[in-house]
Amino acid sequence: MKSDHIETLLIHGGIDGDERTGAVSVPIYQTSTFRKNAFGEPQNYEYSRTGNPTREALETLITELEGGKAGFAFASGMAAITAVLMLFQSGDKIIISNNVYGGTFRVLDKVFAQFGLSYEIVDTSDLGLLEKALDSKTKAILLETPANPLLTITDIAGVVAVAKAKGALTIVDNTFMTPYLQKPLELGADIVVHSATKYLGGHSDMVAGLVVVNNEELGERLHFIQNATGGILQPFDSWLLIRGIKTLGVRMDRHVENARHIVEFLLQSPDIEKVYYPGLESSAGYEIHRHQALAPGAMVSFTISRKQDLAKFFQGLHLITFGESLGGAESLVCHPASMTHASIPVEIRHKIGIEDNLIRLSVGLENKDDLVNDLKKALAAAKQGQMD
Ligand SMILES: Cc1ncc(COP(=O)(O)O)c(C=O)c1O
Repeated sequence: MKSDHIETLLIHGGIDGDERTGAVSVPIYQTSTFRKNAFGEPQNYEYSRTGNPTREALETLITELEGGKAGFAFASGMAAITAVLMLFQSGDKIIISNNVYGGTFRVLDKVFAQFGLSYEIVDTSDLGLLEKALDSKTKAILLETPANPLLTITDIAGVVAVAKAKGALTIVDNTFMTPYLQKPLELGADIVVHSATKYLGGHSDMVAGLVVVNNEELGERLHFIQNATGGILQPFDSWLLIRGIKTLGVRMDRHVENARHIVEFLLQSPDIEKVYYPGLESSAGYEIHRHQALAPGAMVSFTISRKQDLAKFFQGLHLITFGESLGGAESLVCHPASMTHASIPVEIRHKIGIEDNLIRLSVGLENKDDLVNDLKKALAAAKQGQMD
């Protein structure tokens, strides 16, 4: 490893540049296959589904950043999660935290259920509940912390202790934090997954997924699955991701600074009912999050008064983009109930607190006062359209 400092590793980690030419940027090996040197002799690269130097540079980089043993790059976050779920078998049970990304719920509910892999939704922020839900069939706990979209905090080391006692794996979706702010493997987790589409890519210009595991055996099994099922990340997208990761540190610092400013504004606004942000001392998991992560991140959720016109709020935004996704340079806002979490049945949605007036904001890198002004205007528009 070239440094103990993540700021340096973000730029020089993995395979740094090109040995052959001295190029400082990893070359894009846009090739499907590689010439055989000799009959019957295995070689490093043979076919790009199995291994590609640009993808390998990225896979080595994310492995170093997360402090794992092996890393894998996939065509999307969902392809990465799907590959991880393929580690399990018919008859196994996976516990998922109650606020996981809707797509994670959907792939378990609609795809893996067909193959006999069952799931149970548990509020993993309550370790007592988790302990009760773990049975002999439970092979893994898949959690997000902060979880999407209520930013609920789960104690990673606490879950690991409960899981290990029963021989289950702990899988953490680290999309919202990135290894710059939180390193689940150092807290004992076995597998980290990412929608690298978000902060790691950082520019809303690509879709990608990453997995890092903490032991070689899991690494071998995942490489087998990656090669067998083929959901790999392409060379150009691997390069784009390496490029994005170089600036992750400076971007995250600015994301967090802007988020804190917006949270202060929201807290004072009479039109806002509730603000969800792990950096608030009053938030339930504040102390746990402070111990397991370096900063609260830049995802902020809030509810606006039910009387206000939601459609007018979204229409009233001019700088902040109304759309899916998060973690880009540009601020993005979404309505979880009809967008990211629409695949969760309404009864479950309400049970887990995803109300219809909930708004999720991914705070971008724009000027923070411009962002507040945009929110002010949109809230004024929502008020004008408000129902009596
Ligand atoms: C926390 C989280 N995990 C996984 C995913 C899925 O990733 P992708 O959209 O790259 O397939 C998302 C997408 O929004 C996400 O927010």
